[in-house]
Amino acid sequence: MAKSEAADALVLFGATGDLAHKKIFDALYGNVRRGRLNVPVIGVAGDDWTVDQLRQRARDGIDSFGGGVHDEAAFATLAAGLSYIGGDYRDPTTFERLAAALSDAGAHRPAFYLAIPPSLFEFVVQALQAARCAEGARVIVEKPFGIDLTSAQELNRVLHKVFPESSIFRIDHYLGKEPIQNLLYFRFANSFLEPIWNRNYVDHVQVTMAEDFGVQGRGKFYEEVGTLRDVVQNHLLQTVSLLAMEAPNNAGAEALRDEKAKVLKSMEPLAPADFVRGQFEGYRAEEGVAADSDVETFAAVKLHIDSWRWAGVPFIIRAGKNLPVSATEVRAELKRPPRDVFGSQADDSRNYLRFRLGPDVVSLALGVQVKHPGEAFAGESQELYALERTTEDMTAYERLIGDAIAGEALLFAREDEVEAAWEVVDPVLRDHRPATAYEPGTWGPADADRLLPPGCSWYEPTS
Ligand code: BG6
Repeated sequence: MAKSEAADALVLFGATGDLAHKKIFDALYGNVRRGRLNVPVIGVAGDDWTVDQLRQRARDGIDSFGGGVHDEAAFATLAAGLSYIGGDYRDPTTFERLAAALSDAGAHRPAFYLAIPPSLFEFVVQALQAARCAEGARVIVEKPFGIDLTSAQELNRVLHKVFPESSIFRIDHYLGKEPIQNLLYFRFANSFLEPIWNRNYVDHVQVTMAEDFGVQGRGKFYEEVGTLRDVVQNHLLQTVSLLAMEAPNNAGAEALRDEKAKVLKSMEPLAPADFVRGQFEGYRAEEGVAADSDVETFAAVKLHIDSWRWAGVPFIIRAGKNLPVSATEVRAELKRPPRDVFGSQADDSRNYLRFRLGPDVVSLALGVQVKHPGEAFAGESQELYALERTTEDMTAYERLIGDAIAGEALLFAREDEVEAAWEVVDPVLRDHRPATAYEPGTWGPADADRLLPPGCSWYEPTS
């Protein structure tokens, strides 16, 4: 499918909410600064606010959660393009006012950003259709996209009643991150990797997403999700799909998503034995958390990809809150040389590829063995760096919102990808072992070690 036409207005449902405050206004401001946003932005929410209150909220969000307003002219452009409609989502007159505002703005291809709870999607999309706003429009939706396979299928059904798949932009903010795109680029812009990027050379792949903070006041939300739903089903399975996919036929959205979906569809659904759960000590004392909660704040899973390229190569993911550092890394461990010629190879002396995916640092390194100076044929591990950068040029939200408005679907999750990812985790959402307590600042339950191949240990990224 070719890229669709750019939207000519952005309607932000949930304009007074948390996501808009923390992420969306900053992203809109960034897009205005880069000249990527020059359409009116209509905020919609239940609160009885004035547009000036919304402008103030936007400024506060950029100052508190983004890089701050340093370009007053850009902020003034954003503020001038903002308008606000306060009204109940269940009241049809809210949508009649929206239709009038769109028509006044001369907008025929609006993008509707649903920064609202998924339970409201059905009302909102149907009301948009009833108010004749949906034709030619697109819809941008946020995670969580469902809480299991059935609810994700239901959400897709609800959206498809009004919007075709090509008009649905599902945000997984990981896909908008520069280092994640680097993975894709590195894989398919080089030729040396291809001969070794398969079951013949790769022993196993470790993916660690560690955060050195807890649930940060989101206890109530976390109780409903847990780590598996919060970051594994979406961000980390998407990351694995980019690591494991075949080359797309072209750089278009459908070709890329076809290949990612193929990987997700070839993953075996998880079995309880392949899922280790942990909960940091102190989680139950968080606000909004049940005193006897068994929700996991640490998840480790072993994935099996039944494909020609990857059969028999485990992809092992771990993610958790209150771990020793904040770091997301992929480490693909290559097989050992067939013989230890020098009799000097330590247990951890494998070649590997390491991708640091953030935060703050993006790096790409190859782990090699080199000889110590001196008489003996003894060696040490060194890393060859292909890339080491400290900052991100554009935030993930900035990129994704700009792309959604422009109609570029490459970095958005397609229906079949999202459902296939749920199929992988669905069997263990309820059927699992209890969470094991771990001390904050540690690497989670020791039980996660058993997911690794014999003789291997978890690689520990540093901060
Ligand atoms: C979010 C999760 O989707 O991703 C959070 O809800 C997590 O729990 C966050 O902390 C991590 O993303 P980032 O971009 O902040 O590293």
